[in-house]
Amino acid sequence: MSGGKVPIQVTVTGAAGQIGYSLLFRIAHGDMFGPEQPVVLRLLEIEPAMKALEGVAMELDDCAFPLLAGMQLTHKAEDAFEGANWVLLVGAAPRKQGMERSDLLNVNGGIFGPQGKAIAKKASSDVRILVVGNPCNTNAYIARMNAPEIPAERWFAMTRLDENRARAQIAQKAKVPVAAVTNIAVWGNHSTTQYPDAANARIAGLPVFEVISDHGWLKGKFVEIVQKRGASVIEARGASSAASAANAVVDSVASIVNPTPWGDWHSVAVVSHGEYSVPEWLQFGFPVRSNGEQWEVVPDLHHDDDAWKRIRVTTQELLQEQEMVKELVPS
Ligand code: NAD
Ligand code: LMR
Repeated sequence: MSGGKVPIQVTVTGAAGQIGYSLLFRIAHGDMFGPEQPVVLRLLEIEPAMKALEGVAMELDDCAFPLLAGMQLTHKAEDAFEGANWVLLVGAAPRKQGMERSDLLNVNGGIFGPQGKAIAKKASSDVRILVVGNPCNTNAYIARMNAPEIPAERWFAMTRLDENRARAQIAQKAKVPVAAVTNIAVWGNHSTTQYPDAANARIAGLPVFEVISDHGWLKGKFVEIVQKRGASVIEARGASSAASAANAVVDSVASIVNPTPWGDWHSVAVVSHGEYSVPEWLQFGFPVRSNGEQWEVVPDLHHDDDAWKRIRVTTQELLQEQEMVKELVPS
């Protein structure tokens, strides 16, 4: 065991799926919690996928990762969540070409209420949860509302892939290294209504609108590329994003458990407490900064009329999704 540290118990659901096949190896390698921190992987699958999961576990063994302190494979949710410090809710069907992510609510929504309850019953008292399975904002809302014992601030849904996509697009347009692009906020739903915000983003510390003169692109095509990137990947690959999604899971958790570099922020969907006039209790993509223990929504960012309109549109969509799942949420 590395440095005698107590391993972090990490539950991953849907562990034999596409994202799992990339994610588990990154976690076991130390990319999520650092090169000194051992982890135990608690892997949940549905019963028919247990054999495939055993194969994945064999491959993890065969990597001989020094930080991998143990694995538990199960098809029972309560066993998977037992003592978990972090829960990554990936297990859910992906969309196919021509679908919107919200079309998955009928198939996937029902997974998250029971899992929320099981997490509340079995996980460690410090548990934090990142929801990846789509539509991730509303699935996180369902699970959270079924687990009132867990503070609402411990629930996250993943908009980091959208942030990373936006960063790459801006870097390519400006012909700068991706590391020069900071302060990317993705507002709202992980869906085609999301608002990737170039107006508050920076390149080498300067406003993006000062560095990139093609403002039409920043206000139009850029937003559309990021909003539709998931569908573009599905069209090209014949399957939804997996390695880039796993990478965004690693980035999301690392950005929550480590202090955010001064002046920057990262995008993740968190419970709204009314920031930027977003209704309370929505699981809404915001720019967030962390001190490694607690996080806050970055206050006082400026929006023009177009940005406010986009934020209202994505808010309305999340409210509609919330309405669609009201039977999955205790009243
Ligand atoms: P996949 O079909 O390859 O894998 C999903 C796995 O989940 C399967 O192995 C399945 O057996 C398992 N599963 C299904 N129901 C389960 C349950 N109740 N408990 C445990 N496991 C269960 O799909 P994938 O490509 O890995 O994608 C997983 C989800 O992540 C999809 O909903 C996809 O749309 C979503 N996703 C989200 C983002 C994001 O940015 N938020 C990015 C990419 C993918
Ligand atoms: C993505 O953004 O790539 C994922 O949410 C998968 C999808 O359905 O687009």
